[in-house]
Amino acid sequence: MKLFVDTGDIEEVKRAAEWGVLDGVTTNPTLIAKSGKGFKETVLAICEAVPGGDISAEVVATDYDTMLKEALEIASWHPQIVVKVPLIEPGVRLVKTLSDKGIKTNVTLVFTVGQALMAAKAGATYISNFVGRVDDLATDGMNAVTETVEMVATYGYRSEVLVASVRHPLHVLQAIQSGAHVATMPLKVIEALFKHPLTDSGLQRFLDDWNKAGLSIFEK
Ligand code: G3P
Repeated sequence: MKLFVDTGDIEEVKRAAEWGVLDGVTTNPTLIAKSGKGFKETVLAICEAVPGGDISAEVVATDYDTMLKEALEIASWHPQIVVKVPLIEPGVRLVKTLSDKGIKTNVTLVFTVGQALMAAKAGATYISNFVGRVDDLATDGMNAVTETVEMVATYGYRSEVLVASVRHPLHVLQAIQSGAHVATMPLKVIEALFKHPLTDSGLQRFLDDWNKAGLSIFEK
């Protein structure tokens, strides 16, 4: 499964990139606004920090003509850029246009398998299925992910299912179990994936025993 960090903060991207396990970055207008920096400069800095990774940057218009202009502008900034497009009618039309031109797309704000079908048929590179925002409504957000993974496999669509709106490590476990291709998450969720109390206590015991014995790797 590919691992993306969901952030507009370049320092967070650099930290996640240091571990060598990061496949890409997703941003959205809220995250870019929160960064306090310009859209283009932020996206370009992220591309540099994650060489070869897919970096999603979102259009903000809602009519086809303006969305197309924005998409072509954003895509021209860097070859790693994936144009993020909301799942609205002009958005699906835009994804078809961009996919015909060989421009990668990430269709966002997808909540149902019906919406995912529209994105897959239009040639989306990624289908961003939101989980946490559905859980917030006391409904299991993972159901649509599982259905979408099955739909894509059954019909042989090339789109990758991207689990978004990930809030905690259990969502990551469920993403793995569903067979989703990608999960994007805040840095704090990636950090939580490293952690287990038995890892910490086990390491402490190894080190205590080693030190008590007065051993050294570099013998004099
Ligand atoms: O980038 C889209 C998505 O991951 C946002 O998550 O936590 O705002 O629902 P959240």
